Amino acid sequence: MIEHDIDIASQQIGHQVEVIEKSGKILNPRTIINGKVQYISNDDWTSGFFPGTMWYMYELTNDEKWKEYGIKYTEALDSIQYLKWHHDIGFMIYCSFGNAYRFTGKPEYKDIIIEAAKSLSTRFRPVPGVIQSWDENRGWQGQRGWMCPVIIDNMMNLDLLFNATKLSGNPKYYDIAVKHAQTTMKNHFRPDYTSYHVVSYNNDGSVEKKQTHQGKNDDSAWSRGQAWGVYGYTSCYRETKDTTFLQEAINIADMIIKKVTTDDCIPYWDYDAPAGENTPRDASAAAITASALLELSAYAPKEKKYFDYAETILKNLSSDKYLAVKGSNQGFVLMHSTGSLPHGSEIDVPLNYADYYYLEALQRYVNLTK
Ligand code: GLY
Repeated sequence: MIEHDIDIASQQIGHQVEVIEKSGKILNPRTIINGKVQYISNDDWTSGFFPGTMWYMYELTNDEKWKEYGIKYTEALDSIQYLKWHHDIGFMIYCSFGNAYRFTGKPEYKDIIIEAAKSLSTRFRPVPGVIQSWDENRGWQGQRGWMCPVIIDNMMNLDLLFNATKLSGNPKYYDIAVKHAQTTMKNHFRPDYTSYHVVSYNNDGSVEKKQTHQGKNDDSAWSRGQAWGVYGYTSCYRETKDTTFLQEAINIADMIIKKVTTDDCIPYWDYDAPAGENTPRDASAAAITASALLELSAYAPKEKKYFDYAETILKNLSSDKYLAVKGSNQGFVLMHSTGSLPHGSEIDVPLNYADYYYLEALQRYVNLTK
């Protein structure tokens, strides 16, 4: 499976890179709309994934060409370290510069990670103890009337903060990450460990609303949100060794295993979407879950079920049903992800983050099985 997948990924991503290099520009592919690859600007929340994909290709193949592309596409995101108008800087900088620093140890990358953590920290609200995801007065989010909206996805920005503390010695970033994770644990989850997508807070710290943005309805379990949750709490345990975070990750993982009812473990776009052949899947949620459960399996070793479940996801994503045939899919690796169905946006398409977490999961699988 691994050799086959790496072969396909090399060919597919190699094609994306070839098209970009021929253009003479530095482009950042996100998805395909109406048959055309959508290249995104640096401040798009997904801009870190394509550069990050170069680093996983490098790790999986040891081919120096991926390192060179990794450096080139990562450095193109340099200005993002100062981004303060949304929370996704964690995804953007950690998937790109975080991986770049892991492989090169370049001091300038370390400085960028720390600067980005400083930028993200400007969004921390001590009361109620969260990092604000979206501005209350900007764009469509501003029209929902939320005072201080926080989405479950925000758990994915904490790795940047944990690592900034390690690199700088400044405990502030670690403390913010822990507080955010604790507040989210208190307010985002239902008794069955499914999570709300959006929780907004009042100025006095009380919860204002619990709603959705990308899910089926306020009370549903949006598939990718569940995946961000289990990934985020697994990371929090890795970084803090606090067993309440481990237990949260285990509870979410058990919920996922129970609630995903598709034969192949690749969820519909929302767990509460009506089951059916034409209901869109979300391969990205499956890839994120597989990556998280592989890591979790090392922290909960008695529970082989997390490894087994992740392995099943990976085997199914590696089948013809989800893995692109060489030369198809305009160079993306996986098919059948869903961006935001309620907005009619990116339904049953490839997505750069599905590919990123799929490659990360493959690498984790290699590490665990070698
Ligand atoms: N973080 C946005 C999404 O998962 O669609």
